[in-house]
Amino acid sequence: MQINPYLFILPRTPGQIVWDYKNHKQFELNLEYSTRLTQLISDPKLYNSNHRIDTQLLNSGILTTSTQDTIEWGWDELSKIFHIGTKNIPCEHAPQDIHEWSRQYLDHCTEVLAAPAPANRLIERQARELIALSKPSCLPEGTLANVLIGRKTCRTFTDAAVSLEDVGTLLYLSLGYLHERENDVDDSLVEGLDARRSSPSGGGLNACEGFLHVHNVSGLKPGLYAYHPTDHALSFVNPAPDSPLGQLLCGQHFINNLPVGLFITSRFDKLWWKYEHSRAYRMTFVEAGHISQTFQLVATALGLNTWLTGALADDQVEVLLGLEDSAEQPLFFVGCGYSDGQVMCKELKDLLGSREQQQ
Ligand SMILES: Cc1cc2nc3c(=O)[nH]c(=O)nc-3n(C[C@H](O)[C@H](O)[C@H](O)COP(=O)(O)O)c2cc1C
Repeated sequence: MQINPYLFILPRTPGQIVWDYKNHKQFELNLEYSTRLTQLISDPKLYNSNHRIDTQLLNSGILTTSTQDTIEWGWDELSKIFHIGTKNIPCEHAPQDIHEWSRQYLDHCTEVLAAPAPANRLIERQARELIALSKPSCLPEGTLANVLIGRKTCRTFTDAAVSLEDVGTLLYLSLGYLHERENDVDDSLVEGLDARRSSPSGGGLNACEGFLHVHNVSGLKPGLYAYHPTDHALSFVNPAPDSPLGQLLCGQHFINNLPVGLFITSRFDKLWWKYEHSRAYRMTFVEAGHISQTFQLVATALGLNTWLTGALADDQVEVLLGLEDSAEQPLFFVGCGYSDGQVMCKELKDLLGSREQQQ
């Protein structure tokens, strides 16, 4: 008998909450149950199949007879609880197609909008006199400012292919180690940590990596590819899965024909090596956000439209990228393609229209 290794316990007078954070289950134990659990934690061999509480603890998964896979986790417990506790979030029913997604999404929005949005705190600050600022004039027209203004999230894409040349540009400018910066290296930098990207990187570690999801890129067969930032090259990892892209992204089927996307991963082991505290965990997402934004700006500059999500079916994505139970974890997805610029898919708009008519 073993204690489930993915538990944490919170005091909540008069009892305690036992949280199985991997399976997203919570139990409230009274003193009797807590006392018995403490005894079993101290010595799991005390387990007695005739003991009423022991069998209940086993049936609930707090105790286990199976040897649990222990994932490669070299950081502290806090980041582990948060990362694993927010993975594979239970979804009663992941939408199987775009119609089901539209219905679920619209129902969700209706539910959310039933309660008022949190008040705007800035209104309180407006009690003080406002100092008007001039419109930005320092950026020449047609360059960065236009790209920033042009970036928007689109949810319909045409079936036109993205060229391999554009994919190369996107990857080099978002994730590649820039040759242009090779001679602009400070003497104080440690050898091996001097590679620089267009985005800043926590500790200069370049802990983020990228896997390309190819659906429709001229000259590349569909599938998953790892990007090698030093060589600015791709290597094939896996063929495209049988299920559509939307299935991997928590049922967001409007994205099934997105020509190309990037799974942004983070090498936690690199961060652990330099930063022992789980506060560094916060930085992984900040870094992924920088890369995602850069990818979107480059795509916009190339005349493509963009989409992004953090809603990953984590286990499925890990298998596809060959990262099961690894210290490299997928964090975010950003993609691009040609689009008519629509913010919402037609199916959702049709459903919205028909519900409005019924009211
Ligand atoms: C962290 C993050 C997660 C997001 N996740 C999703 C998502 O799962 N699905 C989606 O369609 N859009 C997603 N978006 C896009 C937002 O809905 C979008 O940025 C927002 O509506 C503002 O529109 P804009 O990007 O065109 O300015 C996400 C954006 C961010 C920054």
